[in-house]
Amino acid sequence: MEMIQRPRRLRYGENLRRMVRETRMSKASLIYPVFVMEGENRQEEISSMAGQYRYTVDRLLYKVEDMLNAGVDKMMLFGIPAEKDEVGSGAYAEDGIVQKGFRAIKARFPEMYLIGDVCMCEYTSHGHCGILHGQEVDNDTTIQYLAKIALSQVEAGADMVAPSDMMDGRVAAIRKLLDEKGHENVPIMSYAVKYASAFYGPFREAADSAPAFGDRKSYQMDFHNRREGIKEALLDLEEGADILMVKPAMAFGDVIHELKETVDVPIAAYNVSGEYSMVKAAAQLGYIDETAMMCEIATSTFRAGADIYLTYFAKELAQCMDEGRIG
Ligand code: PBG
Repeated sequence: MEMIQRPRRLRYGENLRRMVRETRMSKASLIYPVFVMEGENRQEEISSMAGQYRYTVDRLLYKVEDMLNAGVDKMMLFGIPAEKDEVGSGAYAEDGIVQKGFRAIKARFPEMYLIGDVCMCEYTSHGHCGILHGQEVDNDTTIQYLAKIALSQVEAGADMVAPSDMMDGRVAAIRKLLDEKGHENVPIMSYAVKYASAFYGPFREAADSAPAFGDRKSYQMDFHNRREGIKEALLDLEEGADILMVKPAMAFGDVIHELKETVDVPIAAYNVSGEYSMVKAAAQLGYIDETAMMCEIATSTFRAGADIYLTYFAKELAQCMDEGRIG
């Protein structure tokens, strides 16, 4: 049959298909989020996140080595303090759990790039992401605390900070304090476009950080909104954010895409706990092929425009990239 255009011509054979791939990924884009807890020589599997653990600092070092061997050289740390209080003191204590984690990793593996998640919900007794005034999170008080948290993480060895609280003006407050203390070269990766999402469910069990009352809808965004996400992103840029994040990733490809077209800074996307656990659970039931599903989901986020991908699947994705399965 006479036919000039035959798109299938470029689909015959793996070599050819790999040559014409439009989306290229690299292990350099991956960030592995991990949980650190008090104690010694223990690791506990997180029941809502099969294959993910809370590590004591000594055990975390083995995980760091494991990730470096897999070619993943960036990690984000979440702390689980022994005790929580109203003002989240554990978040900015010099000997706070995450600060101890940063110090230990930097001493042993300086080549691991460390990112601090700057928030209060893992550290407050009420589980909200800031300081309460009555039943509300008080924005302007909270951003002063967030700046203190960021500074204490940087002083402990964090190379970058990532505020995830969604208070207004927090990027500016963090930038100002870091600059005053001589940390003008520490980048801020802002969770700029963070939605109030059911996809965080498994994380809240992992970090025991579910709000004791109410929800996070007065600070995290309504998932019906795309333009508001762009507004949040532009404000964070003005305040000094170096990298902008969209979170969650999988169900928000349209937002990632639009942001990529709109701004000229790197875009990160967070493949959050619920996205991870859905794949794990469905695979355990035998409903899906876990590796294939993980690869397709990750690729879709890069295809949408993400430059950076935070994922609990970092090690497995790195292996798939090594094997040429994706990337
Ligand atoms: C802290 C924070 C959360 C996540 C990252 N930082 C929880 C939340 O906002 O409730 C979620 C990460 C995940 O689900 O994997 N505020």
